[in-house]
Amino acid sequence: MALIGAAVERVDGRLKVTGVAPYSGDVALPRLTHAVLVLSTIANGRITRIDSAGAERMPGVLWVMSHLNAPRLPDGGRAGVHPPAGRVLGLFQDDAVHYDRQPVALVVAETLDQAEAAAAAVRVGYSPATAQLDFTAAKPDAYSPGKINDAPADSARGRFAGEQTAAVTIAARVAETYGTPIEHHNPMEPHATVAQWQGDELTLYDATQFISGCRNTVAKTLGIPPEKVRVVCPYVGGGFGCKGSAWSHVPLAALAARQVGRPVKLVLTRDQMFGFVGCRPLTEQEVVVTADASGQFDSMQHHSFSHTSVIEDFTEGAAVQTRILYSCPSVETQHRLVKLNVETPTFQRAPGHCTGTFALESALDELAYRLRLEPIAMRLRNEPPADPQSKLPWSSRSLRACYVSGAKAFGWSARNPEPRSMRCAGQLVGWGYATATYPANRSAASAVARLNPDGFVVIQCGTQDLGTGTYTIMAQVAAQTLGFPLDRVRAELGDSRFPDAPVSGGSQSAASVTPAVQAAAAALREKLVNLAISDESSPVYRALAGEVVLEAGRVGLRSQSRREPIAAALARSGGKEVVAMATADPGDAKKHHSLHSFGAVFAEVSIDPDLGLVRVPRVVGRYSVGRLLNETTGRSQLLGGVVWGIGMALMEESILDGRSGRIVNANLAEYHVPTNADIGRIDVDVVPEFDPFIDPLGARGIGEIGITGVAAAVANAVYHATGIRVRRLPITLDKLLS
Ligand code: MOS
Repeated sequence: MALIGAAVERVDGRLKVTGVAPYSGDVALPRLTHAVLVLSTIANGRITRIDSAGAERMPGVLWVMSHLNAPRLPDGGRAGVHPPAGRVLGLFQDDAVHYDRQPVALVVAETLDQAEAAAAAVRVGYSPATAQLDFTAAKPDAYSPGKINDAPADSARGRFAGEQTAAVTIAARVAETYGTPIEHHNPMEPHATVAQWQGDELTLYDATQFISGCRNTVAKTLGIPPEKVRVVCPYVGGGFGCKGSAWSHVPLAALAARQVGRPVKLVLTRDQMFGFVGCRPLTEQEVVVTADASGQFDSMQHHSFSHTSVIEDFTEGAAVQTRILYSCPSVETQHRLVKLNVETPTFQRAPGHCTGTFALESALDELAYRLRLEPIAMRLRNEPPADPQSKLPWSSRSLRACYVSGAKAFGWSARNPEPRSMRCAGQLVGWGYATATYPANRSAASAVARLNPDGFVVIQCGTQDLGTGTYTIMAQVAAQTLGFPLDRVRAELGDSRFPDAPVSGGSQSAASVTPAVQAAAAALREKLVNLAISDESSPVYRALAGEVVLEAGRVGLRSQSRREPIAAALARSGGKEVVAMATADPGDAKKHHSLHSFGAVFAEVSIDPDLGLVRVPRVVGRYSVGRLLNETTGRSQLLGGVVWGIGMALMEESILDGRSGRIVNANLAEYHVPTNADIGRIDVDVVPEFDPFIDPLGARGIGEIGITGVAAAVANAVYHATGIRVRRLPITLDKLLS
């Protein structure tokens, strides 16, 4: 009966594996037209000429839009801008070019082939200016963004804040710089939009992590009321942050559809995914940590520099976790931005914590070596009883249990810490450890639950399922709350006509949406019970609500065995659906508790001593994330995070050409991600936990924590195997051949 938490198969699994689930790019509408973008080929300067006459004469071409003829938008196209979610876009409002691959024209044609051919025939002339493409050269001009989301960009406590701290004899100090490269998200499904106008009403079939955000951004950008915009997105083929914002192609498709008076489909190509839809920024992180001989931390400094565009600030919060992860009397963190003539970076899976744990957890491994301490024992000496920054109690922090369970599963106690001491079949073997962490986020969400006369429950919420399992956990929570079988409950999402839910980002959908689903289902249950109680023919007529049970969709008295389908009472009362709606919000939980997830990651590497080739035969991860709402989909989230972490450690890197400002490996042949053959055994699990402060279901989000810590665990294992400390990702073989 306990559906919540059970290993229920994805309710949308069959639709997906049979190819029936419609993605945005699959949408077919009558009189559909196709659009293709033309992107800039300079990184800075002005457009001097757009010659589209040839393209316009080509077969099937309906319109070529550029800054010469694009509709003028309110506030120069900036009306919808609320960085970082509402972006500074390229909407053809002027002739300025700020980065290579900025959209500069759009061709609409009858067929995709015709649009592609015509887009290739559009001639654009430029007056180029000098572009800043050198991070190191621009670094002296780094500036503070002031804030990272709601948090201050800088923090200081202890002696960094001018306070008196106890005198400690420093036994070891690590002061190193760690680097992570630009990375691109590359979900399997590229960005795609179909825009359709019916009168003054716009429908967007958009691949998005945030249907209501897309609606609001597009409405403001175009200067129309949000009620006139509907965003539909029942399935998303992965997002990882790049679909958290509506980028330029979305309003451009809407403008084009209005002009040609027909629906327009605009699907980005894989190489355009490396152009104007966000990336994880490059980071350089200067970390200083000191400790006494016992391993007690004395001070930590973490200064993160990351790049942004010249048109918008986006900050990778890489030093944020350093404020809270360990007991340490003196901590100082800074974030600084370096402006380059490139696209604006954006959130990418575990933004900040992913890059930040690489630097911090690598530095702590270096510290443990200098102190000759076992790295987990050293961390245990600094386990904070409460949030060391806010002083608030943890909502729950079972990191000790993760250390213990993970170390046992991995066999960590057999590790000889001496570098190059372990070999197997001619390969150097290394074992590395790192801690994982990510904040527990939650926002207000609403849901509606209805029982249809056919006996099916429909639960609707304006959230998104990125492939994570949102449909499934919605159905599980609704079915259990209502006392209905799972196959009588249908979850619906991905339509902005449903009640609002937050962005499916920041790992917050599970904790935001399921409480609303639970509340709506509970409200529906109450209505149904009352309906039955007032129904003369019902077995529960005139009973007290507390005596009534609703199980397997059937109603009866607790004390008797007779049950009747609740739909029968519905039929007798006139056969109309019963509807209940509810909103759930996080309240003031963040005021009285510090809400974070944690994990312990153990990695084994096996390295060819002659070639420097690194393999990762196994990873063990144990996580403190509250309760899992679905054991299968939950573990899959963690597993996928670890896989990506291995890719981050060893392969992923977008290479910026310092002359052109273009990503030169803008395809999946040269931008390397792990394949099945690259992945060994991954053993992920959660430690038993229930977080009563995040939400009534006790579950924190798990979309992002799985990637954190993995790159450091691998890098620490590489050091153990080789004695070579790689501080700049990815750990490619050239860095191990010295
Ligand atoms: Mo996630 S990077 O917040 O979509």
